[in-house]
Amino acid sequence: MKAKTQFVCQQCGVAYAKWVGQCANCKAWNSLVEQVVEPELGKKAAIEKAKTSGRKLDFVKMSTVVPSDAKARLSTEFRDLDTVLGGGILLGSVTLLAGQPGIGKSTLLMQICARIAKKRDVLYISGEESAGQVKLRAVRLGADSEKLSFAASTSANDIAKTIETGEFDLVIVDSIQTLAMDEISSAPGTVSQVTNSGNLIIRAAKKTDTAVVIVGHVTKEGTLAGPKVLEHLVDVVLNFEGDRYGGFKTVRAVKNRFGSTNEVAIFEMLGSGLKEVQNPSAALLAERTNTDGSIILATLNGNRPILVEIQALATKTNFGYPKRTASGFDLNRLNLLIAVLERRTKLKLSDKDIFVNVVGGMKLADSAADLAVCMAIASAVAGRKLSEDYVVFGEVGLGGEIRSAFRADQRIAEAKKLGFKHAIGPATIHDKFVVPVKDLRETLIKYVK
Ligand code: TYD
Ligand code: MG
Repeated sequence: MKAKTQFVCQQCGVAYAKWVGQCANCKAWNSLVEQVVEPELGKKAAIEKAKTSGRKLDFVKMSTVVPSDAKARLSTEFRDLDTVLGGGILLGSVTLLAGQPGIGKSTLLMQICARIAKKRDVLYISGEESAGQVKLRAVRLGADSEKLSFAASTSANDIAKTIETGEFDLVIVDSIQTLAMDEISSAPGTVSQVTNSGNLIIRAAKKTDTAVVIVGHVTKEGTLAGPKVLEHLVDVVLNFEGDRYGGFKTVRAVKNRFGSTNEVAIFEMLGSGLKEVQNPSAALLAERTNTDGSIILATLNGNRPILVEIQALATKTNFGYPKRTASGFDLNRLNLLIAVLERRTKLKLSDKDIFVNVVGGMKLADSAADLAVCMAIASAVAGRKLSEDYVVFGEVGLGGEIRSAFRADQRIAEAKKLGFKHAIGPATIHDKFVVPVKDLRETLIKYVK
């Protein structure tokens, strides 16, 4: 028999018997999600029952509690990934690994499975691929442990039941979008299936102290509702980002109940799977040719200082509206910086198409990238270069002023390590290595030549 379901508005909580496009109560659109109805008592009866059904909690002295951390972390044997996780995957935790299709989620998880299955019982559940297909990948990655099992399933009920047996220390569910719960009629991948299946699996994991990693696909815009809803339910959310084709890929925790969210692990996809990149700056700068439009930025990726090359190209606009394209950098920010350049320096950019690229597939989320982007554009437009021994960092304000950057010491240390002689940076930093600059126009006149 099908369980009774109702449609609950996720904004205001009002329930409906049928799906409607707009909630009549709070007027939100598309906010209804199908949920299983739990049999309910009347309000009065419920309160009466609660009065008598409660019992005294079993409490423990905090001094006698063993931190769950100490006993139950599974190491992925990827040094940086373990750090991102806060020391490995915690038993009983549920982790969501989110990323675009094709980025390497299944590959990474199969590698982790192989490593953990050396000592522990691991189950890989796929709703996307057959045993034969997964085996192909496993062979390629050298995963051949006796303790690694596989199941193909798209039933959230069956998966939860399997986790509840407690036979496995780690269970991978690839992917949440393929799962469906029997009691709910909507298609796999819809918000209600994702939320309810997720809930079922999380409950099973907590019950038996099983570590679970759930894969979630996100679209290019990161818009798919499913994993977003799921983010609130799980303990750890890892984002797998980067270029699908070549380049570096980063795994970062956007939520972590058991660790910091500032760490990143940087990977490279090889023929034999993913490999951690230990010295990304050196790898990123290896192919550099010092042309105009190229500036080295000392940036931070999470907690890690990294040197990346920013490239800009300017060409004459052939007709109409000038085009601006950014890869690895926020387009709105680029437009803003172009406006600042036009207004605060004498550069004429309104008749030029401008392209900015962050080399190596890195995605920058660092306000101190501004100065490097501005200098790259100026360098490209003027056809002049910055001397090879400089790195650059600093935020650019709307008045064309150079503003301070956080963690300057780490940026400087990384630049020194890679053999640079100077940094062009905000005047607030007092370090012999840094050539202090205050104003964008002066900086361009003085250093881009
Ligand atoms: P995959 O892990 O299947 O991506 P996802 O699960 O995120 O959708 O694999 C991504 C790509 O990686 C795929 O196009 C093939 C490639 N790949 C390698 O380059 N080397 C390898 O060793 C493996 C297993 C895959
Ligand atoms: Mg996959």
